[in-house]
Amino acid sequence: MKKRKMVQEEFCCPTFNLPEKGVHSWQAPSNIALIKYWGKYGLQLPKNASLSFTLSACQTQTKVIYTKQKQADKFSFKVFLKGEHAPSFEPKVATFLERIEAYLPFLRNYHFDIYTQNTFPHSSGIASSASGLAALACCLLSIEKEHNPELTEEKFAKKASFLARLGSGSAARSITGPLMLWGEHQGTEKSSQLFAIPYEEPLDTIFRDFQDTILLVDRGKKEVSSTLGHNLMLNHPYAENRFQQAQHQLSQLKKVLKEGDLKNFTKIVEMEALALHAMMMTSDPYFILMKPNTLEIIHRIWAYREANDSAVCFTLDAGANVHLLYPKKEKKKILDFVKNQLVAFCEKGQYICDEVGLGASVIES
Ligand code: PMV
Repeated sequence: MKKRKMVQEEFCCPTFNLPEKGVHSWQAPSNIALIKYWGKYGLQLPKNASLSFTLSACQTQTKVIYTKQKQADKFSFKVFLKGEHAPSFEPKVATFLERIEAYLPFLRNYHFDIYTQNTFPHSSGIASSASGLAALACCLLSIEKEHNPELTEEKFAKKASFLARLGSGSAARSITGPLMLWGEHQGTEKSSQLFAIPYEEPLDTIFRDFQDTILLVDRGKKEVSSTLGHNLMLNHPYAENRFQQAQHQLSQLKKVLKEGDLKNFTKIVEMEALALHAMMMTSDPYFILMKPNTLEIIHRIWAYREANDSAVCFTLDAGANVHLLYPKKEKKKILDFVKNQLVAFCEKGQYICDEVGLGASVIES
């Protein structure tokens, strides 16, 4: 017997007269998690809630050109990265289309040419899946939006996050900003497993223009994919405690964000980064994504913070790069610190200056 897929009625799309062709262009930012998502179940549902800063400079820009065709067995599309056909991206896009078809039922009626590019170097070790899938979700959902007046801006953001999540969990958090929360959390109204919501709790102004300088320690391809890493949490001896820890840290972080308490912000954010990597190091099989330069940078941040009474702290993604987070008023000093002390530990001396941003937007042609 064929297994029936569970469909979330709320996100279904009404029928409408299909246009012959069209084009939509969106850009969507990357995001950096303060409370980390690591461990999932079902179809991209998180084992714990996560909270991230939406970024601003690191974006994926995507243009989707769609042309009507006879309904096909297989999805018909081609992906181009910086104008060049990029077949290596296509399996991920095919999986994504399969997962979202129930919510955008016209997908098989079209051929899609998907042109995509990142504003950050492709081989920077910065995951482009969050920004890439968020941008693609927005482009495809725009086809529905043209014909569905019910899809208000708010509903569009919610459905875009829901769709993006089906492509890559963290992509759910790349739709709006300045912070997004994904996953059910006790005490956070409207939080959901299915999509991320804009963080609408009280937020001290210091966090509205927080800076993120990304130190590119290792620009190589990820040695362990995040899908594999998430799966290793399934039989992980410390997993349950880790999920509880994340829920608790999120409750603590909410107070910190309200009060502008930079000391405890540092403590929670760094603890989360190290907890994420501790889970990796204690998986079976175990693995380490940090490099010697990652540790060197962390120690130098700690020494700098101590000596300069600074609020700079670090976080890590599933990789060796270090994100330096700090208030805007420290920008000049921190960039001097980066140039004088940290750049030597970056591959080819590369780093990216980013800051908190507001989310995905249409690219006007
Ligand atoms: O979205 P995924 O499946 O690539 O997972 C990303 C997980 C982390 O980046 C390590 C943490 C997070 O919450 O973004």
